[in-house]
Amino acid sequence: MGIIFNESSETITLHTRHTSYQMKIGNLDYLLHLYYGPSIRDTDMSYQIMQYDRGFSGNPYESRNARTFSLDAQPQEFSTQQQGDFRTASIEVVNSDGSYSFHGKTANFKIKDGKYQLDTLPCVFAAAEDTVDTLEVTLTDEVSNVQVILLYSVFEEADIITRSVKVVNSGAAPIHLKKIMSVCLDFLNGAGFDLVSLPGRYGQERQVERQHMTHHIHTIGSVRGSSSHQQNPFVILCDRDATEDYGKCYGFSLMYSGNFLTEIELDQYDQLRLVMGIHPKQFVYELKPQEVFEAPEVVMAFTEHGFTGLSHLYHDFYRTNLCHSKFVQRVQRPVLINSWEAAFMDFDDVKLVEIAKAAKNMGVDLLVMDDGWFGKRDDDNSGLGDWYVNTDKIKCGLHKLVEQINDLDMKFGIWFEPEMVSEDSDLYRAHPDWAMQIPGRHAVRSRNQMALDMSRQEVQDYLIKNINAILDDANIFYVKWDINRSLADIWSNTLPAERQGEVYHRYILGLYRVMDQIIKTHPDILFEGCSGGGGRYDAAMLHYYPQYWVSDNNHPIDRLKLHYGTSFVYPVCTMGAHISDSGRFVPLKTKAVVAMCGTFGYELDATHLNAEEQEICREQSGLFRQYYPLIIKGDYYRLTNPFEPGNMTAWQHVSKDRSESLLSVVVTNLTCNGPQEYIRAKGLDPNAMYSINGGTEVYSGSALMNAGLPINREVEEYSSFQFYLKRQ
Ligand code: GLA
Repeated sequence: MGIIFNESSETITLHTRHTSYQMKIGNLDYLLHLYYGPSIRDTDMSYQIMQYDRGFSGNPYESRNARTFSLDAQPQEFSTQQQGDFRTASIEVVNSDGSYSFHGKTANFKIKDGKYQLDTLPCVFAAAEDTVDTLEVTLTDEVSNVQVILLYSVFEEADIITRSVKVVNSGAAPIHLKKIMSVCLDFLNGAGFDLVSLPGRYGQERQVERQHMTHHIHTIGSVRGSSSHQQNPFVILCDRDATEDYGKCYGFSLMYSGNFLTEIELDQYDQLRLVMGIHPKQFVYELKPQEVFEAPEVVMAFTEHGFTGLSHLYHDFYRTNLCHSKFVQRVQRPVLINSWEAAFMDFDDVKLVEIAKAAKNMGVDLLVMDDGWFGKRDDDNSGLGDWYVNTDKIKCGLHKLVEQINDLDMKFGIWFEPEMVSEDSDLYRAHPDWAMQIPGRHAVRSRNQMALDMSRQEVQDYLIKNINAILDDANIFYVKWDINRSLADIWSNTLPAERQGEVYHRYILGLYRVMDQIIKTHPDILFEGCSGGGGRYDAAMLHYYPQYWVSDNNHPIDRLKLHYGTSFVYPVCTMGAHISDSGRFVPLKTKAVVAMCGTFGYELDATHLNAEEQEICREQSGLFRQYYPLIIKGDYYRLTNPFEPGNMTAWQHVSKDRSESLLSVVVTNLTCNGPQEYIRAKGLDPNAMYSINGGTEVYSGSALMNAGLPINREVEEYSSFQFYLKRQ
C-alpha cells in the first residue's frame, strides 16, 4: 500500500519504491508537511519541528496564549491566507463578503485505489501494471465554506507523486479566486538548494540555468498565454553539489500550457517554499455556489542520483503514463520530410510530388505539407482560419495529391495553426468577434495574425468541424499543430466585464477540448505539436501529441544544446529533430547524428541534393530505423555538458537490458595540437564485454565507463562518431 495513515501520530505517509512523503494533521487541524525525500520507513517526522516564539509572525487566535505556534514557521501542505503566514501564498481567494481569507483546516481525508482524474484538464494515467493509490484531503474554511481538496496519486514503482487541487465553493454566494497553486512544498531546512530551470527564447529554447537560492522569492513563469519559449513549466531543486550522477534532486513538472508561475522562496528562517500553478496575472475566476475549480496537475519526482537519475524517472514515466497515442509504444514513427524549409509557402502539388519522389530515394516514409496549402496563403499576412484547400496551389485537390504520395508508397502529413486567424481571411470577415481584441482598441499584431477566442464554444466547434473535415477528406497520416504568437488583448465577447479575468484559462480549456475531440476521433494519426519551434513544449501538450518540434533552429551545433536542455525532463521520443540546410560547414552525417537524438526527419528541398547526398541520407534513414528501439525506448545519458567549455558533445542511448548502446559524439571545436580526448560511457553492464560497431575487439563495460573511448582527432571540423556497442 503506497499510502499509510498512522492513527496515533495522525501522519499520512505516501511511499514509492525509493521515496517517502509525509504530512500530519497537526495542531488546530492545520495540515503540516513533514517530509519528502529518501524512504523513511515508519517514522513520525514531526520531531523536526521546533516551536518557539517568533516575533512579528502571529499566532492563530485559537492557540490562545501559546505564542510558539505560528503558521509563518510551520511547514504546510497548502498554506493558508491571512493566518500569520507571510510567505508566498498557495491561494488567494476573495470571499463573498469581500474578505481575503482562507483558514483551511483538515476536515477529512480518503485513501482510494487508482489514479484521480480531472474533468477539465489533462492528467497522467495509470498503466495496467502500475500500483497507484490516491489520497484526497479536504481543507475547509468554516467561515466562508470554501473547501480546498488536495489530490495526490502515488505511483509506487515509478517513484512519482502527482498533485492537484480542487476548490469548491460550498458557500451561498460567489467567491473569486485570484491565485490557486497546484502544489505547495515546504522544506524546514531549505538553505543549500540550487534551482535549475530551462529558460530560452525563440530559436534557443530550454537552455539550462542553475542558481543558488538566496533570501527572496525566485520566480519562473510565463504570461504569454502559453508555456512559452522563454521559460518552461519544469524546475529542479537540487543539492548545491548535485551533478549528473550524484545528489538529491526534486523535479516539478506542471501539466499546463498557459500562463504559469513557479515561486521559490527562501525565507527568514532558511525555510524554503515552492509553489507552482497557473500564473495569477490577470486571473480572477468566479466560482458560484457549488462550483468547482480544478488546478492543473504537477508531476513530482525525487532521486538521490543526480540529474540523470531524475531525467530517467521522468523519461520512463512520460513514455508510459502521459500520452495515449499508439505511436508512443506500439507503432514505429516514420522518417519524415517537411516542406517548410524546402519551399516555405511557394509550392504547388507538382512541387510536392517532386520533393516526395526525391525524398523516397533518401529513405523517407512521410511527406509533410507545411504552411501555405489553405485559404489565400502566399505569405504570412493572410489566410489563417480558412481551413480549406487552396486549389490554385493544390490544383489536383487534396485527395488526389495524397493518392499520388501514397502511390510512391509514402504517407502524407499536413500542417494547421488552428488557434489563429488572419484579418485578411474569410473567417475573420464572417466572424470578426471571434478574434481576441478589446472593444474600442486595436489588437497587438504579431506575425500579422490574431488569436481566436478559444474560450468560445462556437469557435471550438468551428475548428473541430473544419479540421476533422480535412482529416476525413484524404488519407492523412500525420498532423503538425502549430501556434505562432504570444497572446495579448485578452478579451472574450461572450463573457461579462467582471469575468474577463477568466479568459486566459478558459482559452486553454477550450484548446484542450478541441485537441481532445480531434485526436480522439483520429487515433491513427500521428500528431506533432509546434509553437514557432518549441514554444509550448510542456507535459500537457505531450499528453495529446507524442512528439513536439524542438525548435525552428535546425543548426546542428545549436541543436546539441537544445536537445541537452529538453532532455532534462522530456524524453527523446518526444523531440522532433530534422536535418536541414542550416549549418553549411557541418557534414551531412553529423546533422544526421544530431537528428537521431529525436524523431528523425528532413527539412530541406530533397530535389536539390545530388545522388551522393541522397545516398548518405538513405543510409542515415536506415540507421535511424535500425537504432529506433534504442533511441526511442532506451535510457538516455548526457555524457558532456555543451554549455561548458569543451571540444566535444556526447550522449548515449542504452537499452533497458544493457545489451546494446549507441554512443554519439560531435566534435564541436578542433583545437590545434590539443590533448587526446576520451568519452566515458555510462549505464553499461560493468562485467559484460561489448563489441564496437561490429568489430572483433571487445572491451568490458567497466573499461568503457571508467577509461572511456579515445576519440580520433585527425578529423574534419564538426565531425561526428556513432559507436554501436553490443554485449557479447
Ligand atoms: C512555425 C514552425 C515552422 C513552420 C512555420 C510555418 O514557425 O515552427 O516549422 O511550420 O511556423 O509558418
